[in-house]
Amino acid sequence: MDPESLESLANHMEKIQFAMGQVKGVPLPQDTCDVWDTIYGFQAREDDILVATYPKAGTTWTQEIVDLILQEGDAEKASRAPCFVKVPFIDLILPKPMKSGLELAEELKSPRLLKTHLPIELLPPSFWEKNVKVVYVARNAKDCMVSYFHFQRMNQGLPDPGSWNDYFSTFLAGQVPWGSWFDHVIGWWKARDKHQILFMFYEDMIEDPMREIRKLVKFLGRDLSEEALEKVKHHSSFQEMKANPMTNFSTLPSVVFDQSVSPFLRKGTVGDWKNHFSVAQNILFDEEYKKRMEGVDLTFRTEL
Ligand code: A3P
Repeated sequence: MDPESLESLANHMEKIQFAMGQVKGVPLPQDTCDVWDTIYGFQAREDDILVATYPKAGTTWTQEIVDLILQEGDAEKASRAPCFVKVPFIDLILPKPMKSGLELAEELKSPRLLKTHLPIELLPPSFWEKNVKVVYVARNAKDCMVSYFHFQRMNQGLPDPGSWNDYFSTFLAGQVPWGSWFDHVIGWWKARDKHQILFMFYEDMIEDPMREIRKLVKFLGRDLSEEALEKVKHHSSFQEMKANPMTNFSTLPSVVFDQSVSPFLRKGTVGDWKNHFSVAQNILFDEEYKKRMEGVDLTFRTEL
């Protein structure tokens, strides 16, 4: 999206609320569903790097870390364009005149860094055919739910989340854009050894960012000096990304993201769910969680 398109959007639209549809039972914006065959037919390239997440799991943070690694810690190079332009979101179609993720991806030179929120069964098969490296980031469901609630309040394209109590049920039922948190993390977890997938956790990244950056460097087959690694860590910190117009989404008009409702870089912590869940909701959630995750050897931390 270039600044001209953004201005034109801001001038011509009051609201950009997407209608919602479904692909194979997964709730997705209708515009995505309308061109589903094109998205599913997306042609990956061998040297693409894909950041895949359930929404609000730390996608933007991870994208920024990966890009800073590719730029060897050079913040100026990493700030060449807003994060949503330099890392196309292949499953999002925006209203014209904004460019879709597919269009932006076509225009990029290799190696491309791409983003998706698709559950694994909907991922375009060319990613596997080309043996593309995928960084999957997972975040505990309670914090994801809280973060998504605030995001749906501020993102004018997504359905209004209603009250927290309403949203609690909607999220648990998987009736949110991109579907069920459970199906998403379980699907990607089970596939992690079948493809080149690095499965990471938001909580680990908060706990020890340098350790996780080193994991990424190794996975990407790069070799960075200690100085460059420190730069990657510094420029991808919450404070730096919140202050950086290329990563904080401040270049998007408020008809798209209304950051006066809730900032995109909101808290960036583990455990904010404790400020939202009632005691009864926590019990209900834990019961449902136990059922849904039974037999899955995947453990999340909800506090550090
Ligand atoms: P909160 O809403 O809990 O603050 P995504 O990019 O997948 O939409 O995820 C957004 C979440 O990641 C938000 O969580 C945001 O604050 C957090 N986040 C973004 N950049 C971060 C960073 N550098 N460090 C920690 N958290 C970050």
